[in-house]
Amino acid sequence: MITMNDARPIILKLGGSAITDKAVEACPRNELINRMAEEVKRADLDNLIIVHGGGSFGHPTAAKYGIKEGFKEGDLMQKFGCAETHHMMTVLNGIVMDAFILHEIPAVSVAPLNCMVTDNGKIRTFDESAFKAMGKLIFTPVMYGDAVMDEKLGFTILSGDQLVTYLALKYNAERIVVGVDTDGIFEEDPKVNAEAKPIKHLNLAELKALQPKLGKADGVDVTGGMAGKIAELIPAVEAGIPVTVTGATKNLSIYRALTGQSVLGTVIEKT
Ligand code: IPE
Repeated sequence: MITMNDARPIILKLGGSAITDKAVEACPRNELINRMAEEVKRADLDNLIIVHGGGSFGHPTAAKYGIKEGFKEGDLMQKFGCAETHHMMTVLNGIVMDAFILHEIPAVSVAPLNCMVTDNGKIRTFDESAFKAMGKLIFTPVMYGDAVMDEKLGFTILSGDQLVTYLALKYNAERIVVGVDTDGIFEEDPKVNAEAKPIKHLNLAELKALQPKLGKADGVDVTGGMAGKIAELIPAVEAGIPVTVTGATKNLSIYRALTGQSVLGTVIEKT
């Protein structure tokens, strides 16, 4: 079993809904990004891997050019659209990295486009040599949902959530923390029904039953909103890796979840 260093990693996903305003194209939530970086610094973990989503940077461009569906022969603009989607992600990643560096976190950006290839949308190869070396020296690698090359489709969109599960399984993560813009998972979409009840705990069977009922995302989302996210996380839960879904926009939730304290949100465990 390969581990990052002696400790099993903790994987933090910062959802696109938490770090961007999904209603406005390419709009970062700078104050929130800054506070999340502050909380990551405060948690002071030496076994952390961070993955962030695309929000209003990645999704609109990906949707405009149909990047997830793959390369369509004869569509001259699509290759440009794939390049632009990746570029939009590097711009958002730069903003997120700015905040980590400002807070003196040894965070280093790792672009999936450059080290991963998918096969029909699922990660097939990962050239992990640089990533592993970073882990040994206790850097904090930061990956993100990205446009990637695909063996069957030419190219596609790799979601941050698939990345989280892949890394969690590969490096035997201790747990996963997912920061979103709601206080965890609700019985119904809280943005549609304000009375929707929050769920404190879910086991695998409950999660699977609930998954299809979860909401689609606000704004443009090519990776399936909350329902799509949870579907991607199921294999990690099946492997016994607990997942905490919490409101990244609430003060100290990320810090508390990273340091294993109780937090407003949903804890998902196998049993
Ligand atoms: C999407 O990643 C990346 C692109 C559209 C390029 P995610 O699916 O993880 O993003 P969020 O968290 O839903 O915004």
